[in-house]
Amino acid sequence: MPAAVILGGHWGDEGKGKVIDLLAGRCAYNVRYSGGSNAGHTVVNERGTFAFHQVPCGVFHPGVIPMLAAGVVLDPEALLAELAELERRGVRPERLYVSERAHLVMPYHRLLDGYLEAQRQDLRLGTTGMGIGPAYADKASRDGLRAGDMLDPDRFVQLVRRRAELANEYITAVFGGEPIDVEDLARQSAEWAVLIAPMVCDVEREIRAALSQGQVIMLEGAQGALLDIDAGSYPFVTSSSSGVAGACASLGIPVREVGPIVVALHAYMTRVGEGPFPTELEGEAGQYLLRVGNEFGTTTGRPRRCGWFDAVASRYALDVNGATSLAVTKLDVLDHLGHVRICVAYEIDGKRVSHLPSRADVLARARPVYEDLPGWKQSTQNARTWEDLPPAAQRYIRRIEELMGAPVSIVAVGPARDQTLVLRDPLEVA
Ligand code: GDP
Ligand code: IMO
Ligand code: MG
Repeated sequence: MPAAVILGGHWGDEGKGKVIDLLAGRCAYNVRYSGGSNAGHTVVNERGTFAFHQVPCGVFHPGVIPMLAAGVVLDPEALLAELAELERRGVRPERLYVSERAHLVMPYHRLLDGYLEAQRQDLRLGTTGMGIGPAYADKASRDGLRAGDMLDPDRFVQLVRRRAELANEYITAVFGGEPIDVEDLARQSAEWAVLIAPMVCDVEREIRAALSQGQVIMLEGAQGALLDIDAGSYPFVTSSSSGVAGACASLGIPVREVGPIVVALHAYMTRVGEGPFPTELEGEAGQYLLRVGNEFGTTTGRPRRCGWFDAVASRYALDVNGATSLAVTKLDVLDHLGHVRICVAYEIDGKRVSHLPSRADVLARARPVYEDLPGWKQSTQNARTWEDLPPAAQRYIRRIEELMGAPVSIVAVGPARDQTLVLRDPLEVA
């Protein structure tokens, strides 16, 4: 079977963790393909509530091999802490494999993330502060350190010293900051290398071999299509390719090897950090979604901005990524509203437009054109089949399906694994 991709179609936090936890039992490999510890994927199942940052979140299913592919940026310190925390809670995943090609996030990247944000002032992006931008910048400028470098410890420590000295020049000369202690970082890096080197291998070659043997592979996206460095609302994006093309580039697999593409969409919109958000609800309505949806960032704890479902932005995400089906999550958050709204077009400078403008400054001027639908004013949290949903909730899902031009395979009505309706097999390509 070709590889399945599960990705977010909004600005992140669409419930990818929940969807992957639901489906991962059917795959042999669960591979994260982009982003780093900026991600926070929540899984709620019989083992408890878990927030995953770098470890792929299908690890509750025995036998599933978790991997981090080339497109990921790996924070060694954070990864070791995350694995230790899982171990402490009795979760012992199969051995984690890390791509030799994955770039490393070092403490100076996190520091630079903070300095750059401060320097941006009113143009700040609201990053997670995890060093993501500076780490991908080093990758692109060919000054990065890769996980594969850890396989030769002496050379690795030398490289760390060189990179850290360069970072110190930047920190002190440009930002007037305190330099980091290079020798301390060299010592810590040597310790990380001892622990991480046994996980490092040619993940991409393994995956191509597994594909040729017909193994089921699930590629886990991070962030969302609207945060993609190319397709997203630049500059209010992350620094990686969060879409399906990013999965192929990261895994080193031909595009034709991708089969099912499941795009997770919330039944409304959220966004953490800065950037245009046409359907954002301010005041009590936004607070309501924040409260009922428990919309606080999994990584930073920041309150998420909330708003009505934006069919223009969502459809764009699907056009770019080519979904074979949709997972619509958090339907239950809308349960008690008198009506629900879907943005079907924008009005920009007095003109009606039905596409997502590429410029963030133009998108910031977009006024939503809404279509109103009746609410269902009853709980859907115990629904397990399509017939269990109130007719108005069914109508809402059908309308999303029509506007998206893709079938809904999964509807989520609560955070737990079993609070899910499976309307068709998401891993089957029609
Ligand atoms: P991810 O980054 O896409 O994996 O999403 P996050 O885990 O950051 O955010 C999604 C949040 O919504 C988490 O707290 C989930 O437990 C929760 N969640 C997922 N699906 C549902 C749902 O259908 N209903 C409700 N009420 N919460 C959900
Ligand atoms: P998951 O995988 C939501 C946002 C940040 C900021 C912008 C850039 O849980 O969906 P960065 O730290 O990447 O340089 O920040 O991107 N952002 C996310 N928002 N969910 C995420 O991940 C995010 N990862 C980054 O808030 O606006
Ligand atoms: Mg998240």
